[in-house]
Amino acid sequence: MQPSNRLLQGVGATIRGDFPIFEHATYLNSCSQGALSLRVRAAVEEWLSGWDENGAEWEFWVERNESARAGFAGLLHAAADEVAVTTSVSQAVSAFVSALDFSGERNRIVISDYEFPTIGQIAHAQALRGAEVVRILPEADGSIPPERFAAEVDERTALVCCTAVSFRTGHRHDVAAIAEIAHASGALVLADSYQAVGAVELDVRTLGADVVTGGTVKYLLGSAGLGFMWLRGSLLESLLPTQTGWFADEDIFAMSISDYSPHASARRFDSGTPPVPSLYPGTAGLEIIAEVGVPAIEEHVLELGSRLIDRLDEIGAKVVTPRERERRGPLVCVRSTDVVRLCSELAEEERIVTSHRDDALRVALHLYNIDEDVDRVVAALTARRHLLA
Ligand SMILES: Cc1ncc(COP(=O)(O)O)c(C=O)c1O
Repeated sequence: MQPSNRLLQGVGATIRGDFPIFEHATYLNSCSQGALSLRVRAAVEEWLSGWDENGAEWEFWVERNESARAGFAGLLHAAADEVAVTTSVSQAVSAFVSALDFSGERNRIVISDYEFPTIGQIAHAQALRGAEVVRILPEADGSIPPERFAAEVDERTALVCCTAVSFRTGHRHDVAAIAEIAHASGALVLADSYQAVGAVELDVRTLGADVVTGGTVKYLLGSAGLGFMWLRGSLLESLLPTQTGWFADEDIFAMSISDYSPHASARRFDSGTPPVPSLYPGTAGLEIIAEVGVPAIEEHVLELGSRLIDRLDEIGAKVVTPRERERRGPLVCVRSTDVVRLCSELAEEERIVTSHRDDALRVALHLYNIDEDVDRVVAALTARRHLLA
């Protein structure tokens, strides 16, 4: 079959050799964890060798932490001073909401139905501090258009949470339009970008959100234990997190126990000792993404997604993800009547690695995937048509 995209040779086929998993499997599960590359493996080994040889490489760790901050900033077109380095999205968002006051009239947190559990749970936890959570449900076609937010957001809204890409369905929120609605009512906007960052271009100068989070496990090709949070610079002065740690201090070397003096920059949302074991693979993964470039990766995954959706249409499968390129990211979901069985048959009988949420199979596309991967999964699904809705 002819390659359907011009980047096939440039992106997928060239880089694939650096990811050994493709020698024995068709890997389509980057929405759970990115595939391990030789470079990321070498970075982990470098961490272990340094520990073995030198013990605590303190200066080097701090430098790595700052490299990660700079890497995240570059990816988001942001200033490094507006980026906190965190251990997870959960830690980042918990610290962020700890800086918000829910005791007054403006106490509502509006969340989309596509938020990851951690966002919903952190929002509900704020009920203990006076917050009220409002949930925005999708329309019958699965979309959550900005008008749905407009109907719920008002002067009682403190925060609107709209994930960039849904981990359940692959829908992409129109963050800029939602942010316009939220800002008109004086509310802040948080976009959890974990299912987008590294595969979808995110430019904080135009995205509209006030806070953007994500981490390195998935499309950034690193490991668990490292995340980031960008905050609009103009907000920083007024945001004082009560969930904090010594690496958030204005001077970590002062070692003071006599006051709370958070850093002037987004470092005030950092926490304790940097996540050293995760910084090595995290910065190596970030380098790979930066070298290829997110716009090229985005074009590549959208092309692969179009090919996949077209083929799924041909076999009459129910695709949950929108067809329009601007309404999806790297994830395509297809409805199944027995998704647990389907996912395990693909893994065990075909060596095709996917995942599932609700009643949908998740097929995640990334820079190392090629047309053949799409064709292989479609052939395997055609042979299991009885497991598709
Ligand atoms: C959209 C999204 N947000 C957040 C997370 C996880 O966040 P954390 O870093 O807190 O584990 C995931 C996946 O694990 C995710 O898909």
